[in-house]
Amino acid sequence: MAKVAPSILSSDFLNLGRDIRNLAVNGADYVHIDVMDGLFVPNISVGLPVVKAIRPATELVMDVHLMVERPIRYVERFCQAGADILTIHVESDSQENTLAALKRIKELGVRPAISLRPVTPAQAVLPFLPLCSLILVMTVEPGFGGQSFMQDMMPKLKTISQYIAQHNPECELEVDGGINVETARICRENGANVLVSGSTYFKSEDPAAYCRALRGE
Ligand code: DX5
Ligand code: ZN
Repeated sequence: MAKVAPSILSSDFLNLGRDIRNLAVNGADYVHIDVMDGLFVPNISVGLPVVKAIRPATELVMDVHLMVERPIRYVERFCQAGADILTIHVESDSQENTLAALKRIKELGVRPAISLRPVTPAQAVLPFLPLCSLILVMTVEPGFGGQSFMQDMMPKLKTISQYIAQHNPECELEVDGGINVETARICRENGANVLVSGSTYFKSEDPAAYCRALRGE
């Protein structure tokens, strides 16, 4: 069964506590938190204080997506702030530093994950896959909610699902960007088992039914 990870980027920040508590009520599996530094992506969102504030407010898995340059500088602090899954981008530092950051995340008892921008090919995951608990395939250009789903990412998603089956079958495969009931189905058919949804989840009139529909129930 696929999991649903609502992205709080599209929540009502003035009522963040209420929106976080509703995630569990609506049957979400993960809380997806987008951290942007204005350098790796042309937007600035939330950081460590917000991750720390959310931690005691939910028992859901905190899925923290770092869109920051040289994330190795921050991984310890995000682990200490309460992340359960910590995702870094393969494009944000050298291979050596990315490997070192993933190892550090694992040592701290947090699930290490990597993400790929749309332009980055499937093979880019191979050096990191044995260390990862999750691979995040971006289905929009990272930086903003509410963009259109890039269906041309599906061959890459399928290839990565095959790599996972061969090399690390426990690893989860997540998609992020432009997810709705229809695009979630396409992603599930191509191997995704964690579905991030920001704007469509928070605009939904019946988020519990929407979560079930994303899973294909
Ligand atoms: C974009 C973020 C996403 C974003 C998705 O860079 O990583 O998590 O919130 O938003 P939607 O679901 O609106 O495309
Ligand atoms: Zn994200």
